[in-house]
Amino acid sequence: MVIQQGQRQSAVTHQQSVHDPDVLEVSLRPRRLDEYIGQSKLKRHLRIHAGAARAREEPLGHTLLHGPPGLGKTTLAYIIAQEMSAQIRITSGPAIEKPGDLASLLTSLQKGDVLFVDEIHRLRPHLEEVLYGAMEDSVLDIMIGKGPSARPVRLKLQPFTLVGATTKAGSMTAPLRDRFLHHFKLLFYELEEMQQIIARSAKILGVTIDDGATKLLGQASRATPRIANRLVRAVRDFALVRKQDAVDQPCAEHALESLEIDHDGLDAMDRALLHVLVKDFNGNPVGLSTLSAILAEEQGTIEDVYEPYLIQQGFIQRTPKGRIATQKAYKKVGVEIVQETQMRIV
Ligand SMILES: Nc1ncnc2c1ncn2[C@@H]1O[C@H](COP(=O)(O)OP(=O)(O)OP(=O)(O)O)[C@@H](O)[C@H]1O
Ligand SMILES: [Mg+2]
Repeated sequence: MVIQQGQRQSAVTHQQSVHDPDVLEVSLRPRRLDEYIGQSKLKRHLRIHAGAARAREEPLGHTLLHGPPGLGKTTLAYIIAQEMSAQIRITSGPAIEKPGDLASLLTSLQKGDVLFVDEIHRLRPHLEEVLYGAMEDSVLDIMIGKGPSARPVRLKLQPFTLVGATTKAGSMTAPLRDRFLHHFKLLFYELEEMQQIIARSAKILGVTIDDGATKLLGQASRATPRIANRLVRAVRDFALVRKQDAVDQPCAEHALESLEIDHDGLDAMDRALLHVLVKDFNGNPVGLSTLSAILAEEQGTIEDVYEPYLIQQGFIQRTPKGRIATQKAYKKVGVEIVQETQMRIV
């Protein structure tokens, strides 16, 4: 599926309910680089390269955005198009099935357009080769016809910017990865940035929230804007049920408790994962497939959704032999660290 989207098209149409989570996600999405909170190094580089490309009247250059889910890759792809005053066309790796799909997509691009390919690591390998020529020389090499009468045809494409997004840069092939001029890695957000994101989203949603509640939600958001937005929506409902006009700290505490999210942002699955590493395996390395079987959760979800934050926060480590719990995880799970285990962890 490919969606053509005009840059200034309103994200929320009147037919859609603002209670629809997708609509809310779109309505909270920053539209301009100035509104995009945090990621200061990335923004600095983007401003320089976008400014230079505009001055040369050239496209930005193919750009790879990578980082854990919910940190703002899709948002940034729209912002890149906006910065370049370009149209954006959106598709995803698994949505492109045949070379013909990719060919019709590429030939429909106009000069300077941004083609956003989400989950680019899931692009089928035989399509990658079609993309190489398009990325390097703005040409498309395809075969016309079948059997003995098939002949290669080279089509000239308009210069465009491919923006690829991935949560798994390591799963991309090196030739594809190397064809991107800019590689932007999105980092987990600082607490102060999370608080700004929460304050901004609350304002857009018309929720009055005090500083104590903002800080609490910031700490519980796993350094991830998408989760922050989800929590803002949740506390809004809790305030309504408690017949409060504003969200204060007790209201936020109550909401987090009901959602089983602790002050570190860990939910029931995170805690179960730490429990398995600490209690069931006593600090020994545990393979992903074992964790997946015990927790009844897909390996990909454990790897992409749960582990990055647990690693970043220092609760677990990935080693060649498997995942191990750190001292911080032991403290969290509430187990006394015996000397022997301590030595194994260090
Ligand atoms: N820097 C930011 N400032 C403010 N809000 C942000 C920022 N980044 C993301 N958001 C909010 O978080 C939501 C999720 O971001 P987005 O969809 O861009 O993440 P993603 O990295 O594409 O996630 P996925 O990997 O799951 O596709 C957005 O709708 C937006 O409201
Ligand atoms: Mg996305």
